[in-house]
Amino acid sequence: MTSEIDTSHQAQERENAEPEERIRPVPLAAAAITLAMVLFGVVYIFISEPFGNVGLGDRRTVADLSGPVPAAAGTAVDGKAVFAAQCAACHQATGKGLPGVFPPLDGSEWVQGDARTVANILLHGINGKISVAGAEYSGAMPSFQQLSDAELAAVASHVRSTWSNKAPALSATLFEQERKTSTRTTPFEGGAALQALAAKPD
Ligand code: HEC
Repeated sequence: MTSEIDTSHQAQERENAEPEERIRPVPLAAAAITLAMVLFGVVYIFISEPFGNVGLGDRRTVADLSGPVPAAAGTAVDGKAVFAAQCAACHQATGKGLPGVFPPLDGSEWVQGDARTVANILLHGINGKISVAGAEYSGAMPSFQQLSDAELAAVASHVRSTWSNKAPALSATLFEQERKTSTRTTPFEGGAALQALAAKPD
């Protein structure tokens, strides 16, 4: 029994100590460089004042993000966008309307005709018989007087120069004038009433 213990003791003394796991700290230099770089980044961000700097983002300002702004007179309004939002539901994106229900704007003699007539159609609407591009319609077109002069001019100019239409643009001033001078409170009774308007010197 005793001899056995002795042998194991001797064996232990002969051997090297078990290797032990030690903590190896990050070299001080590497830690210092990392810290310096992080600090440099933080300081740089603050010094360059990036907050609210449009040029550093996707170039949209706070005003761009706070929803549509009512178009002020003289501001460029996208007539195509107004058309898509206000007119396309009836006259269709193609401008061809729906046979028998909504008349076409593409190729329409009204759209490309007298500027004041177009302005008045948009300001007052139509409710009655009208002949458009050789076909008769008897529906109702609402008034768009709630739109600004700039929006009406933009959408009118858009429909006058899109598809096969080649009529000159209309100005916001025209709508402003027609709004002021017109005493009409109801939609036009049809094509005849519109023709009478065009014939009447202003
Ligand atoms: C609710 C459906 C509806 C909407 C929305 C509408 N229209 Fe009309 N529009 C009509 C109808 C219907 C007529 C024909 C009126 C009639 O039969 O009395 C018409 C007629 C017209 C005419 C004269 C006839 C022709 O085809 O050239 C013009 C110009 C016109 N619309 C332009 C517009 C524009 C521009 C917009 C958008 C700002 C618009 N309309 C929005 C239904 C609509």
